[in-house]
Amino acid sequence: MEDFVTLNYNGTEIKLPVVTGSEGEKAIDISRLRADTGFITMDPGYVNTGSCMSSITFMDGENGILRYRGIPVEQLAEKSTYKETAYLLINGRLPTRDELTEFSINLNDNSLVHTDLKAFFQNFPRQSHPMGILSSMVNALRSFYPTYGPLEEEINMTMTRLLAKVRTMAAMSYKISRGHELVLPRPDMTYCENFLNMMFDTPVKPYEIKKEVVNALRVFWILHADHEQNCSTSSVRMVGSARVNLYAAISAGIAALWGPLHGGANQAVIEMLTDIQNDGGSYQSAIERARDKNDSFRLMGFGHRVYKTYDPRAKIMKKMCDELLDSLNIDDPLLDIARGLEETALQDPYFIDHNLYPNVDFYSGIVLRAIGIPTNMFTVMFALGRLPGWIAQWKESVDDPRWKISRPRQVYTGEQEYDYIPLHARNA
Ligand code: CMC
Repeated sequence: MEDFVTLNYNGTEIKLPVVTGSEGEKAIDISRLRADTGFITMDPGYVNTGSCMSSITFMDGENGILRYRGIPVEQLAEKSTYKETAYLLINGRLPTRDELTEFSINLNDNSLVHTDLKAFFQNFPRQSHPMGILSSMVNALRSFYPTYGPLEEEINMTMTRLLAKVRTMAAMSYKISRGHELVLPRPDMTYCENFLNMMFDTPVKPYEIKKEVVNALRVFWILHADHEQNCSTSSVRMVGSARVNLYAAISAGIAALWGPLHGGANQAVIEMLTDIQNDGGSYQSAIERARDKNDSFRLMGFGHRVYKTYDPRAKIMKKMCDELLDSLNIDDPLLDIARGLEETALQDPYFIDHNLYPNVDFYSGIVLRAIGIPTNMFTVMFALGRLPGWIAQWKESVDDPRWKISRPRQVYTGEQEYDYIPLHARNA
């Protein structure tokens, strides 16, 4: 039986259909509201707006639940590989052994990048932020790999190229920034090992693969692989809705992720913890500033639009951070500051009242530091992890029979119509 919500305005009743998701989430379909009544709805920041129906990721912010294609992220972080999770997100189910082998071969076969790309990298100004470079370079990939056969094959090849080449490009940009020789991808290594080797292997000091480090990167990437309709994913869908190519849509996602309120928070957390350390290690003033309405300062790595409890990814990241530092025998003073800051914030009435808990970015920077990733590349690491999610969400939107170009409305608040005044007649 079809379910409706009835809207009453000035004696007129309008019936709006109710849409129910597979986990019982409910939405009111207002797509015909303007045509039937002349009204639009207002929801700045899309706080309460569903922009699509999606079968990729389920989040329950009140109960701290996150599942990819139905599988709890905790299980994937414990048992899956990043490559398998990427396959799951993009194809909707876990691969068979043969499918996973074929996927690996395709990724390896496409992991080299055109050598002309090197010249692009070298011509960015020295101080360029790696996220700006990555966004531009992913867009530029379209010029290097313009088309490939029929649409279905073209889409599959573009997705493979993105997963395989962006990882190589990220490592390449790091090597170029250091003035070092590039290290090529190796087919005998796993996806995570390969990235670490391309980043850190040098002719004078071969990179020693440590299983704890590889495992930390695997978990980090799985935890970042998708997060339903967040700012960057919505950007990918919105830009993609104009039917641009996938490289351009992903490039838009990377640009959105760069922001400190989104993926850029992992870099901002480390900068904040370093400031606290330089100020003598007292986190009380950071808490006071975060509480102060007249100060724009926010506690980075805290709070989330959807999670009103502990971010399930942050729980896993925190545990992994402790284990990694222990096993590598690293004593990072920023970890002590982070722990103390968290403990104090979680007992503070402001943070309790506002439901502010650590999010995925709070401990991830300390993990990345331990792996050896430079701070300005933290958000690139997030972007590499998020690629499968962006690709899956883009693919779903392209295949959606209800697809429409994204085009929100507004309520205009400017001047009403008045006549143009010639320059000579205007007052000084
Ligand atoms: N520190 C201090 N106060 C905060 C914080 C924070 N980190 N986050 C939210 N608040 C307060 C905010 O001032 C507001 O207070 P009031 O209602 O009294 O005016 C209230 O909480 C609600 O904030 P909001 O900005 O309306 O919430 P939002 O859902 O729009 O913002 C957020 C979500 C993640 C942008 C925000 O919590 C924030 O800026 N956090 C810090 C940046 C950060 O860690 N970002 C990473 C997010 S997780 C990674 C990802 O997937 O992107």
